[in-house]
Amino acid sequence: MKVVGLVGWRGMVGSVLMQRMQEEGDFEHIEPVFFTTSNKGGKAPAMAKKETTLQDANDIDALKKCDIIITCQGGDYTTEIFPKLRAAGWDGYWIDAASTLRMKDDAVIILDPVNQNVITDALERGVKNYIGGNCTNSILLMGVGGLFREGLVEWVSSMTYQAASGGGANHMRELLSGMGVVHGAVADELATPASAILDIDRKVAETIRKEVPTEFFGAPLAGGLIPWIDAQLENGQSKEEWKGQAEVNKILGNAKTIPVDGLCVRIGAMRCHSLALTIKLKRDLPLAEIESIIRSGNQWVKWVPNERAVTVKELTPAAITGGLEIGVGRVRKLNQGPEYISAFVIGDQLLWGAAEPLRRMLRIVLD
Ligand code: HSE
Repeated sequence: MKVVGLVGWRGMVGSVLMQRMQEEGDFEHIEPVFFTTSNKGGKAPAMAKKETTLQDANDIDALKKCDIIITCQGGDYTTEIFPKLRAAGWDGYWIDAASTLRMKDDAVIILDPVNQNVITDALERGVKNYIGGNCTNSILLMGVGGLFREGLVEWVSSMTYQAASGGGANHMRELLSGMGVVHGAVADELATPASAILDIDRKVAETIRKEVPTEFFGAPLAGGLIPWIDAQLENGQSKEEWKGQAEVNKILGNAKTIPVDGLCVRIGAMRCHSLALTIKLKRDLPLAEIESIIRSGNQWVKWVPNERAVTVKELTPAAITGGLEIGVGRVRKLNQGPEYISAFVIGDQLLWGAAEPLRRMLRIVLD
């Protein structure tokens, strides 16, 4: 059995990965070794087999013994350890959730339901670095990959509504704390039906400005939104926005770049990222054909007809969170012309957006 080193398995993405690996029986096919940055010699979790103590995640000799390493430890760890490990002659498979290596020539961005052909080709060429994509891009392609596969997409405008989980566990906690602070400020008035809504609103606005915690997001998210995610680039894009075109085209292995751009916005959802898309198709197709192509993208596409009642029930974070389905709806022709369509895509950011492609890549390597 292949020895598989697991790093960063205790964090939020790592915990989702462990849960999915258990659900899919992945541990039956591997000899796992659990690494730690803080608790060397501690007891490994119940999935451990031969090696039941935690190994040092900074020990290159210990890492070198693995055939495959999966890491959710984050970008700083990858930056620090990966070059040392390769310099020490390690030739194993590196499967990583962090963005550090994504755009490197010797790395493939993994999303096998969409780019199995790119992955197969890379494996045949001896590529050893397989990196999970940015969550919004993975969700975009899981949703409307069928249109790309058919070569129908001229360009995409992608406006995102990104959940707190994309920032990390602390960000989710900050969102919830903020919601509590806002509610607490007006709880008495809310309990009194006769109280004036504009008085409540004034108090809420003041609370959001002054009392909602901002340590992790840098601005109040509860009761609002933040129209910037990640660093500022010189061209006016945020880094999150830059990733759209760069990663989508790399995932698809496109020789000719398809323009993908739009604004990325943080909203107060917990772990579902959404995207409002405008897609310019290369030709005018009937809506029924567009639907059938989108549905054929992969088995996780959950098609939601463009009708009010079903949309507000099925195409929401409340419906999608915690599952592998990618909701696709609000598909219709736009006033701009018959080649322009809208679509709303929504997925769990911690599953297809982070953990799921990693465990699936492990299974691909093992096969
Ligand atoms: N960068 C993303 C976000 C998450 O902040 O929502 C990781 O892909």
